[in-house]
Amino acid sequence: MTDPKLAQKQAAAKAALSYIDDGIILGVGTGSTVNCLIDLLPQVRIKGAIASSEVTESRLKSLGIEIFDLNQVGELDLYIDGADEIDADGNMIKGGGGALTREKIVAAACRRFICMVDDSKVVSSLGKFPVAIEVLPQARSYVARQLVKLGGEPVYREGFVTDYGNVILDTYDLIIDNPAEFEQRLNNIVGVVCNGIFAAQSATLMLKAHEGGVQTVQ
Ligand code: 5RP
Repeated sequence: MTDPKLAQKQAAAKAALSYIDDGIILGVGTGSTVNCLIDLLPQVRIKGAIASSEVTESRLKSLGIEIFDLNQVGELDLYIDGADEIDADGNMIKGGGGALTREKIVAAACRRFICMVDDSKVVSSLGKFPVAIEVLPQARSYVARQLVKLGGEPVYREGFVTDYGNVILDTYDLIIDNPAEFEQRLNNIVGVVCNGIFAAQSATLMLKAHEGGVQTVQ
């Protein structure tokens, strides 16, 4: 029997296909939902892709999809990714897979962000899922102390190194009343490379999979 969550991810990925125009260079996120999309990409005629992680890059390459360097292309039209949490305004928490920095860079370079989720990830306010914070290794303890001052409980993601050679502090219990302001506040801590709140790069459209199908939320 197919795992119902997997079936929802596949349904959201299938719905996302219809937004991909022929000939584009597509920004591709990271994670198990995105993997469902990657499996379907041979069905569309894209020119190639910008990958948001090493893992995504190798999956795309294995299907023969050409990978472009973000520095060699201009502004892109579309980025598609999953999320760990998303609110009604399209603000998200991402980074459960640790690819947040490159995801945010690619998302920033794209005009539109389509977020594919199952309905368990839709929340009224962000923060139950820990906020992944990518930190320069030397600044780990300093940043952890600043996060505690903000009311958070940072947990070092043991044994994990990001694609950029940094570490991650998964931070619980943060009160995120204003996602855009809080994202900025975290960015201002010296030693923070990137944080998993995506408010400046919020989703322009959500494809929300549920038991009965996929709902488009704009
Ligand atoms: C990776 C991410 C993913 O988009 C997020 O963790 C969701 O993953 P999944 O689709 O596996 O639930 O931000 O850094």
